Amino acid sequence: MNAPDRYMVIGNPVAHSKSPQIHMAFAEQTGQDLRYERLLAPLDGFASAVRDFIAQGGKGMSVTVPFKLEAHALADTLTDSAQAAGAVNALKFDDGRIVGDNTDGAGLVRDIAHNAGVPLLGKHILILGAGGAARGAILPLFQAGAASLTIANRTMARASELAAAFSEQGNIRASGFAALEGGFDIVINATSASIDGELPPVGPAIFAPGAFAYDMMYGKEPTVFMRFAAEHGVTARDGLGMLVEQAAEAFVLWRGVRPDTAPVYAAMRACE
Ligand code: ATR
Repeated sequence: MNAPDRYMVIGNPVAHSKSPQIHMAFAEQTGQDLRYERLLAPLDGFASAVRDFIAQGGKGMSVTVPFKLEAHALADTLTDSAQAAGAVNALKFDDGRIVGDNTDGAGLVRDIAHNAGVPLLGKHILILGAGGAARGAILPLFQAGAASLTIANRTMARASELAAAFSEQGNIRASGFAALEGGFDIVINATSASIDGELPPVGPAIFAPGAFAYDMMYGKEPTVFMRFAAEHGVTARDGLGMLVEQAAEAFVLWRGVRPDTAPVYAAMRACE
């Protein structure tokens, strides 16, 4: 009998990663014979850890903090979404070649459009934040038919840089928080403010009637941003579904099979 194909999540830290649990659940559900482990790489040892794993016959890796930029630099081939995101969260090893993909944005779009049932076509969307998480979301949101994207950030220069970089992809503009005007159909919090229990400095006027709010962060309790949205009558969802969906996209890249994410999402939610 052949040994199962091997995969890993690589990060530092990595002990908290839910990827092994998610991918093993996908494997079981789809009848794929594979192993999926965690690898804590030294901060200066990302590339050699990847090479070692390839030498051992590894088939692919999930890449988490702080190695997504290094993974982008290391890949021999980048998918369109990895190129646009400037970061890689999934590596596939193909006959010694390293393919880099970024599935975070696709995971976000699928969670909003499919799981939450909120269509993106023709929507005016506000993204709070202009870091890596925001960047990765832009191309997939345009591909899903967003009518406009507004990027608001504490450091205005980063928002302007993103808007300039994607100006040919669609209707995109940058804004400071204080200058935000008008209601948006969908507001996505891509800042890391929720980690510190902080709310980006926005008022309820950012929400159009019937708006939908999404926080890329998740936890046991609703984030501050979700509570803020709910206080103003706006339906809010956290990023647990995005986590499961980005993993599903990586699973498709590796195995060519799409898992059913609903039972895995439910199991993850139950142990949050
Ligand atoms: P990531 O890759 O998760 O996006 P990042 O590149 O460090 O991480 O970006 C973090 C984002 O959260 C940035 O947009 C940051 O704003 P600045 O560019 O002005 O630093 C934003 N952010 C972090 N804490 C915040 C807070 N308390 N309020 C508002 N924005 C915050």
